[in-house]
Parts: sequence; structure tokens; C-alpha cells
Amino acid sequence: MNTNELAAHWMPFTPNKGFKAKPRMLTGAKGMYWTTDDARQVLDMTAGLWCCNAGHGHPHIAEAIARQARELDYAPCFGFGHPLSFELSERLARLAPGNLNKVFYTNSGSESVETAMKMALAYHHARGLGSKQLFIGRDRGYHGVNFGGISVGGLTNNYKAFGQWIPNDHLSHTQDLERNAFSRGLPLHGGVEKANELEKLIQRHDASRIAAVIIEPITGAGGVLPPPAGYLKRIREICDQHGILLIFDEVICGFGRTGDVFASQTFDVVPDIMTTAKGLTNGAAPMGAVLAGDHIHDAVVDTAGAGVEFFHGYTYSAHPLACAAAMATLDVYEQEGLYYRGAADGEIARYLEQGLHSLKGLPGVVDIRNYSLIAAVEFEPMAGKPGATGGLIQTDAWEQGMMLRSLGDAIAMSPPLIIGKEHIDQTIGILERSIRQHFG
Ligand SMILES: Cc1ncc(COP(=O)(O)O)c(C=O)c1O
Repeated sequence: MNTNELAAHWMPFTPNKGFKAKPRMLTGAKGMYWTTDDARQVLDMTAGLWCCNAGHGHPHIAEAIARQARELDYAPCFGFGHPLSFELSERLARLAPGNLNKVFYTNSGSESVETAMKMALAYHHARGLGSKQLFIGRDRGYHGVNFGGISVGGLTNNYKAFGQWIPNDHLSHTQDLERNAFSRGLPLHGGVEKANELEKLIQRHDASRIAAVIIEPITGAGGVLPPPAGYLKRIREICDQHGILLIFDEVICGFGRTGDVFASQTFDVVPDIMTTAKGLTNGAAPMGAVLAGDHIHDAVVDTAGAGVEFFHGYTYSAHPLACAAAMATLDVYEQEGLYYRGAADGEIARYLEQGLHSLKGLPGVVDIRNYSLIAAVEFEPMAGKPGATGGLIQTDAWEQGMMLRSLGDAIAMSPPLIIGKEHIDQTIGILERSIRQHFG
């Protein structure tokens, strides 16, 4: 395609001028590989955008979507229903931990976050605690692009252009290169100490004003930061002591990424509300789901009078094609054992860990971190150009036939859960060449 043909699409989260000068065009995908417009096979070490956990082009999912499109293409979900969304909800409730038994559908991770935040407000309001309006997020957290999500998220680029519109404060991030660099699995130091910061924020704002804490169990887009040991449990304890809800944003972590269905199960901490998207449909149809505890749902729904209890929803909530994609995706995860395949102490996660940590000692590498099938390598910032190295390594890897995510001075990996040892060998080879080329 020539430059004129590319002009009309204003691309999201993309340097548009750079892309249009040198497009990276994907035309097909199967299993672990993309096909490009110049007929190259490119290894997908990112599961798309952390979503194609079962690999690309799975026939069971493709057929389910096609069948559903012929049978019931659309159904309004305000005051009407279709059976598949109820079946899917039952299934998700069975998979979820604790009392997360109520499922509310959205079309994306960002919408799941807004929905979860509104649920928290509605819950407190229903209990006569309408002053609880403030949310606590975490530096380097990413919770999507809508106004709630950018307020609780911790990426300053979001604040610069758009501001912060929801009352908020932030925990500090959990990266500690001095004590935890080159951690294999959960970092060992500082978990409880870091979580105790929440007490200071509660003293500052008072629990009577705080609706919820929202965090990703593993920070993803902010740099892949597995929680230091003990951190999540301590956050849960403090929330409980002060009547503050805990929201886990599992948009990346859900559906096998941490070696269990949800990270909440991996880390044995049950939130009050959990957001999901991405892996729910293996990326094959836009869909998110918010799983709410019975106590959240019952407080909102049972205490309301006749009529709509939760004044919220999307035209495409529980879209039939997305429900069909999700049902088929869950079949595949179950049948192919994918929820547990990436367990941190399992063979494939260990193989990735060993391969990546063999890069320690290469010039420019300041950290390598991993948990299950999610990992990052961090580089020394370039003089005068902090945050640019990840993009250079990403471009080089792309040219060598591999897709990575760049996150500032780091690159991140979150491969499809079907990854084999041969793909890991390929990855380590490409990375080593890129790093040597870049840092000399
Ligand atoms: C943890 C988390 N929450 C929310 C989102 C936003 O999801 P979406 O891009 O589907 O709106 C993302 C996207 O990467 C995410 O990683």
C-alpha cells in the first residue's frame, strides 16, 4: 500500500508518521506466527496485545463465530437476552475464585475498568456510604484509556494531555532494582513494606472517602512487574480492615497468563471485583467481562426498587458473536490444558526463565524478570533519550522475524500459551543478536 492509501486511518497508540513511512503490515496469523505483507513468518512473542493465549487462527473459535453470525447476529441486551450469555456467565462464575459469581459484559479492558469503578461507587452508595468516591491506583499501573482508567492508572503520558478526572491517589510501583534485579519469579524483597504504604494513603484521605484500591496483580503495560512476595495479601488485609474494596484488573493476567485461570488464584487473594477482557475471546472478538462478588451485586440489586438497578451497559454488552467466541475459547483452554501450561514451576515457564536469564551479563542489560509466561528485559537508557531503547530492540527483532512489545527502556514478552521450546530458542537467539548489535 502506498502512503496515500494509509493516510485516512488515524492509528491508536502509534507514531502515525513513523508507521506510514515504514509500515509493518500483518496479513495473516496461524499458531505462533504472523504472516506479513512481504510474506515473512514472524514469531509472535506477545500473543497480539496479550490476548491470543491459544495462538492464532484456532479453527474451533473461528467456526463458533461463523456459526453464531448465521444463527443470531445481534441481540439487544437491555431488557432482552439470548441464552448464550447466561451459559457463558455460569461458566465464568464456576471458573472464578471466591464469590465472584456475577458477570457483567463490556467490549474491552478499558470498559471493564470503568464498569468495575462504577460498581464500587454504586455499592457504597447503596449502603449509604456515598462519600466513598476516591480510588487508589498505583504508579506505572495501566487501566485502559477511559477517564476512570487514566485517573487510577499511573502512566504520566495519560495525565499530560487529558488530566485526571476522578478523585484518586496512587501507591508507588513495586520495582526495586537495587534489591530485586534479575528476580526469577516473584521478587523476594519489600512486599509487605510496599503494601503498607496503603495505610499512609488511608491516613491521608480517610477510609470514609475511599471507594476502592485498583491494581493489576502483575503490572503489565507499565513494565511487567510481578508483585513482591506477600504484597497482594497485605493489600487485601488492609482493604478489609478499612472497608475499602479491592479491584483486581486481570485484563492481562486472566485466562492462563499466570499458570492458573486467574492470577487471583495463583496468588491466593480474592478481590471484590475483577476485570477481564483480551484472553476471554482469545482476541478473536472484542469482549470484556467484570466479575463481581455476590456482596457487590446483592447490595446494588437487592436494595434497589423496581426498575433498572445498575444504570450502566453497552449496546454490544454480551454480543452474541463475542459470547460464541468466548465459549469456544474456554473450550480450547480446557481441552488443551492451557490454563495451567504456563505455571511458574512448570517445564515451559522454567525453560523460558532459563533462556532469558542466560542473557544476564550482556552489555546494556540491567534487569530480567519473569513470572510464568510473562517476562521483560530492561536496558540501560540511552544518553539523552530515556525510554527509547525498547523501541529500537523491538524494531530490530521485528526485522529478524519476532514481535516483542516495547515498554520504554524494556521489552516485554507474553507469548501464546502454546509456545514450544523451539520458539523460546528462536527468541533467545534473536534477542541476543539484537542486544549485541545495539550495545556493541
Ligand atoms: C491491565 C489492563 N487493563 C485495561 C486495559 C485496557 O484494555 P483495552 O485496550 O481492551 O481497552 C489493558 C490493556 O492492555 C490492560 O493491560
